[in-house]
Amino acid sequence: MVTARAQITPMIFTIAADKIKAHIEPNMYGIFFEDINMAADGGVYAELVKNRSFEFNSPLAAWTERLKGGGKGSIEVVDRTAERPENAHIIKVNVNATTGYFGLSNEGFRGMGIKKDERYSFSVNARKPGTGPITMLIELHNAKGAVIGTGRLTPTATQWKKYAVKFTATATEDKASLYVWLKGTGAIDLDMISLFPEHTWKNRPAGLRADLVQKLADMKPGFLRFPGGCIVEGRDLANRYQWKKSIGDIDKRETIINRWNMEFKHRPTPDYYQTFGLGFMEYFMTAEDIGASPLPILNCGMACQFNTGQLVPVDQLDPYVQDALDLIEFANGGPDTKWGKLRTDLGHPKPFNLKMMGVGNEQWGEQYIERWKIFTKAIKDKYPYIKIISSVGPFAAGEEFTRLDKFFRAQHADILDEHYYQSPKWFFDNAKRYDNYDRNGPKIFAGEYAAQSVGGGSPENKNNWDCALSEAAFMTGLERNADVVHMASYAPLFAHVDAWQWRPDLIWFDNLRSYGSPSYYVQQLFSLNKGTDVVPLLQKGEMVSGKDGYYATASIDKGTNELIIKFVNSGATAQPVKFNIEGGKSYGKTATVITLRSADKAAENSLAAPTAISPVKSLINVDGKAVNVTVEPLTFKVIRLKAVGM
Ligand code: AHR
Repeated sequence: MVTARAQITPMIFTIAADKIKAHIEPNMYGIFFEDINMAADGGVYAELVKNRSFEFNSPLAAWTERLKGGGKGSIEVVDRTAERPENAHIIKVNVNATTGYFGLSNEGFRGMGIKKDERYSFSVNARKPGTGPITMLIELHNAKGAVIGTGRLTPTATQWKKYAVKFTATATEDKASLYVWLKGTGAIDLDMISLFPEHTWKNRPAGLRADLVQKLADMKPGFLRFPGGCIVEGRDLANRYQWKKSIGDIDKRETIINRWNMEFKHRPTPDYYQTFGLGFMEYFMTAEDIGASPLPILNCGMACQFNTGQLVPVDQLDPYVQDALDLIEFANGGPDTKWGKLRTDLGHPKPFNLKMMGVGNEQWGEQYIERWKIFTKAIKDKYPYIKIISSVGPFAAGEEFTRLDKFFRAQHADILDEHYYQSPKWFFDNAKRYDNYDRNGPKIFAGEYAAQSVGGGSPENKNNWDCALSEAAFMTGLERNADVVHMASYAPLFAHVDAWQWRPDLIWFDNLRSYGSPSYYVQQLFSLNKGTDVVPLLQKGEMVSGKDGYYATASIDKGTNELIIKFVNSGATAQPVKFNIEGGKSYGKTATVITLRSADKAAENSLAAPTAISPVKSLINVDGKAVNVTVEPLTFKVIRLKAVGM
């Protein structure tokens, strides 16, 4: 009996595997990190204590006074602004506890994630002016109050000194809290009360959460854009990101309010601050670790134009421009330069090989143009090899986009940063967006994009399969136009399930676990299967970009000698397809097929089902010059064929 499926005639596509259409930039698919959704503090920066240095607007936020077994005491917040403006608060704890304890507990970032049998490193800066011992008992409590980890310290120095103790947790808990108990009598000054897991990314002390950085490494990203986003700009200029304040001694990095703290009335996060424990040195090192080119974005003298839009007068722009020049020296300079020496002193003599830099984030208007010209001239005069990333504003079209696009083209700008937070329909419809771009103009960086199931930045947005599939369709258009589109990154990258402000996001996590959204796997598949050069994939002489709901692109990988086909079927029926491969090579008897699909457009991954939608590998037979495969409905497939006998 002939089945209904077998009666469907295969759709025929032709691939000219020997005709190179465009070179694909080796670093084309990258990632964009911004400290939004508790991505850094409370997220990838593995510090478990929130408000460790008492610098929140309410200095004792996240801390609670505790008594046990008859102990008494009091806590005073001491302001030492004159002495240490960047770390202005400490606490003085007056202890009256010969029996029992007096102390304080910290709630962590929506709790603390603690793992059984893992080692934890507690540290505190302490100073004990008076005589008589005060001992410190450190406890981790689970959500029910049971002790799941214990350490002890006896601070004795009369001057500030860092004390540390390591201990092993006896149970796993995602909502643990930290108790710091004091016994004795007298006063003790405390600051920088900190707790880190010993196991971090590359086991660096006070480092990054290993599971989250691993998710980034698994994408093999070509670049890391950091530190934002609007966070670069700040709600006002005082709140902007200043890279020089994000490096060096951890207790000298000034904590400031995170701009996403109060941005959305529907998702207020009053406990969201930036400690800069994840600062520029850590960004550069992480980029290096995961093989990504660093792409810092710098404030160009403009606060976020969605907020205050505060401007630095052009005749006072020098310190901002100097920050950009100094950053290049910090990244690339030798030990004989001021900033290159600092990098060396911080433990990284090898340059970071910085090749590009963003001037502003989502800026627009004449004020941007004026400032862009000053920055660009200064950077190009001193470092002509640095490629400047220029903003064409927050939207994919419109008056401001057109005006900036025209201006930058006339200036022969290097790379234009386009952002689009649009509906899945927009992504499907715009797979052809770059087909008619000027091949000789500036290159394009799709710097922030994500399909929004409800609307731009809506809290109702979902990370569903419909969105991810539309992004895959769109990305076939990015890749087909790799001669114009040199870089692309999804946004935002991370979100804490209990503390997010913006949805959708690429990677979700709680205090212990994490998972990639379906969009994560789309990004990963493009990154791992990009090849080196685009070759034409046509249907009756036409590009495959939306007709009948199909989207496709093909590339070859000169390094591995493979042909790579990417195909999206956005329709509701399975479709047998046949790819006829033209050109000299033969492609053996089998091909690897990687399938990402769900029958349900609304389906999502979750902490409970982290890989519900994730790539599945299989092998199919091929005849060396043709591939026959059935593409299921709502499916993204990658097919890899290895050339033989060449
Ligand atoms: O990705 C979230 C925000 O969206 C970014 O900070 C900003 O650049 C864009 O508007």
